[in-house]
Amino acid sequence: MVKVEKKIIVANWKMNPEDLAEAENIFNFTLDLSRKTENAEIIICPPHIYLQKLNSLNSKQKIKLGAQNCFFEKKGAYTGEISPVMLKNLNCEFVIIGHSERKIHLCETDTTINKKIKSALKSGLKPIFCVGEYERDENMLYFNILKNQIENGLKEINKSTLKNIIIAYEPVWAISANKNAEAADYRDIYTITAFIRKTLFNMFKTKLIFEIKILYGGSVDKNNFKNFLSIEDVSGFLIGGVSLKQGELKEILENV
Ligand code: PGA
Repeated sequence: MVKVEKKIIVANWKMNPEDLAEAENIFNFTLDLSRKTENAEIIICPPHIYLQKLNSLNSKQKIKLGAQNCFFEKKGAYTGEISPVMLKNLNCEFVIIGHSERKIHLCETDTTINKKIKSALKSGLKPIFCVGEYERDENMLYFNILKNQIENGLKEINKSTLKNIIIAYEPVWAISANKNAEAADYRDIYTITAFIRKTLFNMFKTKLIFEIKILYGGSVDKNNFKNFLSIEDVSGFLIGGVSLKQGELKEILENV
């Protein structure tokens, strides 16, 4: 099990906000909170277009920066794409890879996810690899889905890089943007983290898999975050909606 001194809070802004002034506003608010928070490592993942400006505001690098996606090549004729090297050059340390919204709306597959994870690691970025089933079925086939996602996404990954990988378990049905979404039952997450560890161990056959940190994501809010933190193998959260709500974010960051 990973012992983390600080909880990892990843703020996934998704395609928000609409203008740079508001992005600066949210960033500065979170930066201010980070100065008062000792127990959390905050990683903000804004839209790419805001990264450069936010990096310039990030005095003493109090907040870590991450991107929401990257391409798998370093440079070249790939219109519209952004490479891990470019992100690294903007002081990004992390990159979210394989978010379900990219799978649903942008046809991202396990194969491209695997390429992106490898390329990010090669460029010195730490991938936040999202996994999670679309629905819960009575026969518990969702465990197979989870296993396949992990095995495909981390296929042929060098064992020496495992410590740089974060896995975010985000059941798609729990993500707040989805209809009727509600957070997972935290008691369930004991089983899920154990299952993820088992799958990783079967793949890599090394204790190094315990250096991978596991986050929970999906409708995390001020009322439920403490329950998830009671699970030893949950190192923090990937937070979408609430990462843009200053009051709720404050409450979480002050109490982790
Ligand atoms: P949510 O989003 O916290 O709004 O559910 C999480 C995510 O999609 O990463």
